[in-house]
Amino acid sequence: MFVHKLPKVRAITFNKYGSPTEVLRAVTYQLPPLTPTTLHLKFLASPINPSDINQIEGVYPVKPNFRTLGEHEKTAVAGNEGVAQVIGVGDKVEDIKIGDWVVMGKSAFGTWRTHADATPDDVIRIPHEGIGIVRAATLTVNPCSAYRMLKDFVALKEGDFIIQNGANSGVGQAVIQIAKAWNINTINIIRDRQNFQELKDFLKSIGATYVISDKDLQAKNREFEWNKDIEGKGIALGLNCVCGKSVISMAKLLRHSSPLITYGAMSRQPLTIPASQLIFQDLRFFGYWMARWNKENPKAKRMEMLNDIIELIKQGKLRDVVCEENNWGGDDKEDVSDDVLTQRFLEIFKKATEEFRGAKQIIKMI
Ligand SMILES: NC(=O)c1ccc[n+]([C@@H]2O[C@H](COP(=O)([O-])OP(=O)(O)OC[C@H]3O[C@@H](n4cnc5c(N)ncnc54)[C@H](OP(=O)(O)O)[C@@H]3O)[C@@H](O)[C@H]2O)c1
Repeated sequence: MFVHKLPKVRAITFNKYGSPTEVLRAVTYQLPPLTPTTLHLKFLASPINPSDINQIEGVYPVKPNFRTLGEHEKTAVAGNEGVAQVIGVGDKVEDIKIGDWVVMGKSAFGTWRTHADATPDDVIRIPHEGIGIVRAATLTVNPCSAYRMLKDFVALKEGDFIIQNGANSGVGQAVIQIAKAWNINTINIIRDRQNFQELKDFLKSIGATYVISDKDLQAKNREFEWNKDIEGKGIALGLNCVCGKSVISMAKLLRHSSPLITYGAMSRQPLTIPASQLIFQDLRFFGYWMARWNKENPKAKRMEMLNDIIELIKQGKLRDVVCEENNWGGDDKEDVSDDVLTQRFLEIFKKATEEFRGAKQIIKMI
C-alpha cells in the first residue's frame, strides 16, 4: 500500500436544505486513512450544474449523504459531477492505480472538495490521454444525456432533423456536436439576447445546422429557412430543456407521432401543451433522466457510451463546454480560512445562477 501524507480536505458543504447562498459553507477535515479496499482521490475540477443547485435546495430526487466529516456532524458535501486523480490505492483494489483519472459512478458523491476517500464502486476510471480537465469534469452528465436522447427514442437516420430549445446549454452544445458527428441536422432555439448573432455564429461553428431565437420561432406565419430541407421528412425529434409555453411552437413543428423529450425545466414553468398536439398531431411525450438510466443499465452499457463519447472528444468532435474556469483554492499551497473559501465559492456560485451568462462555471482544485 502506498502511504502518503494525509491531506486536509477543504469542502463546500451544507447541513440543511435551503437557498445555496444561505446554507453553503466551507469546512476543513482530515482525510480518513486508506484501507485495503479504498482509494484516495484528489479532485481536479467540478462543474456547477443546475441539478447541484436543486439538490442543495432539497428539490432534487437524489438526496445527498449527510454524515460526519471530521468534527462536522450531519454534513453533506455538495456537487455531483467532477474529475479526480487517484493518489492512494488500497492493497486489495484491482484495476485502478495511482495517477489514474476517475469520474463519479453515481450522483451525490460530493464533488466540491479537494480530496475524498472512495470505494472502486464509487468511481469510473477514464482513459484521459487527449482529454482536458474541463471536458473530463463535465463528461458524465451533459454529453451522456445528449447521447442517450439522440439514440434511445427514435431511430434517427443520417440527414434527419431534430429540434431543441436551450440549445446553448451544456446539454444543448453536446447535442449539436454529437448530432453533427452522426450526420444529423439540428434546429436550435435560444432565447433572444443582445449578442444573439455572436451566439448563433458560435453554435454554428460547433455544428448547428440552424439557429433561431425563441421570439422569431413564435412569430406567426413565418417561413422558416429550413422548410425546404425538411420537405417530405419533417422533424423527427424534439428536446425540451426549458418547459413553459414556448414549447408549443417547437412541438408544432415536429412531424406526426414523433417524440418530444423533456429533460429540463430551466424556465421553472410547467410544460404547457395544447390537447391538439396530442389528439391530432399524436406527439409522444417522454421525460428523460440520466440518473435513472445509469441506475437501470449495466455498467458495460455505460462504459460503451463513455468510450464512444471519449472517442468523439479525441477526434476533436466534442469540445469543452463554454465555461469559466475558477481557481477556488483550498489546496495545501494556500492556507486560507474556511470563511474565505466560503466567500470565494459564493462568488463563483453567483455567476452560475446569472441568466444569459453563457458559460458553465467550473471549480478548479489544482
Ligand atoms: N434530465 C437529465 O438527465 C438532465 C441531464 C443534464 C441536464 N439536465 C437539465 O437540463 C437543463 C440544462 O442543464 P445544463 O447543465 O446543460 O445547463 P447550463 O449549461 O447551465 O445551461 C442553462 C441553460 O438554461 C437556459 N436558461 C436559464 N434560465 C432560463 C430561463 N428562465 N428560461 C429559459 N432558459 C433559461 C440558459 O440559457 P440563457 O443563455 O438564455 O440564459 C442555458 O441555455 C437543466 O434543467 C438541467 O437540470 C437534465
